[in-house]
Amino acid sequence: MYHASIAGTGRAVPEGVLTNADLTKLVETSDEWITTRTGIKERRKVVDGELLSDFCVEAASKALEAAGVTAKDLDTIMLATCTPDHPIPAAACVVQQKLGAKKAAAWDFNAACSGWLYGVHVADGLIQAGKARTILLIGAEFLTRFVDYTDRGTCVLFGDGAGATVIEATKSDHGLLSTRIRSDGEGVCFINMPGGGSTYPPNRAETYEGRYGFIKMMGGETFKLAVRSMVEVCKEVLAESGFATADVSWLIPHQANERIITAVGERLEIPPERCVLNIARYGNTSAASIPIALDEVVREGRVKKGDLILFTAFGGGLTWGAALVRW
Ligand code: ACO
Repeated sequence: MYHASIAGTGRAVPEGVLTNADLTKLVETSDEWITTRTGIKERRKVVDGELLSDFCVEAASKALEAAGVTAKDLDTIMLATCTPDHPIPAAACVVQQKLGAKKAAAWDFNAACSGWLYGVHVADGLIQAGKARTILLIGAEFLTRFVDYTDRGTCVLFGDGAGATVIEATKSDHGLLSTRIRSDGEGVCFINMPGGGSTYPPNRAETYEGRYGFIKMMGGETFKLAVRSMVEVCKEVLAESGFATADVSWLIPHQANERIITAVGERLEIPPERCVLNIARYGNTSAASIPIALDEVVREGRVKKGDLILFTAFGGGLTWGAALVRW
């Protein structure tokens, strides 16, 4: 039977950089607070006129080239994002048109920071069911367009970017070994943006006046749940595949907070040198963070054929998950 394998990766991030020093001019904060509490030193920020779909196309083009396939080979395009170009149409369809991927079915989906992992889970299911063979899975966010730069509790955290992966059907012994995805709607209030949907449509004054078009987060509560939940699903995918944490070559976690990543690594007993960390340069790019981090380690040559990679994420919804991949 066929299963999914990651055949190529790519990334695209804006040139604009917002440093911790820049943020101290906007809110009462300090480089010392941001660095020690989050690990973030700077994040990328789009300027007016830049489009999420263009960053997706740039990241996707690199992933297609790395995989040795063309846009015409794609049968599926899935875009994990909370911040598409528009509510309608799906940004994935805009990407399809810009790439010329004529035979691909394309759609957006929202699993917040867990989006790319949710996409991996679905891609593997489609491939195993014989419904897809060559999938473009993108995670992309322009979160800085929805950040309240008067709220120091959130505005220091988020950044923009896109990461893409080409996922292909394979019968070889590499590729996806196990995935888990989980949700808990009891936590809807932990991370949310109330405006822009049908409750507070963007065309109503109350949406603007209530400042409902900004991301809000209960950081402390999210922190504790994130660590506990990611550790649990990581152990599940390892157990299902018959591996121990000692076998893991790389832990590539969602980049929300360096302290969360350290805590997850410690509880799984994966040493820091095997935990991929780039949050200092990008901040939290939500659904884009894992595919950006993966592309960096792949292009730096740090990941070798046969390596065992453990991915995990946690985000709004609440949503979380893990995946184990033989590279
Ligand atoms: N600068 C200075 N002080 C600040 C700042 C800031 N930028 N932000 C908050 N503070 C203050 C608070 O006001 C508070 O002050 P007080 O003690 O006088 O009340 C103090 O610092 C501590 O605040 P906490 O919120 O308790 O700080 P904490 O150590 O929890 O760090 C953070 C906050 C970074 C948000 C952390 O809780 C976190 O990373 N949470 C998890 C985020 C996450 O995983 N999100 C999921 C993905 S996001 C998505 O899905 C879109």
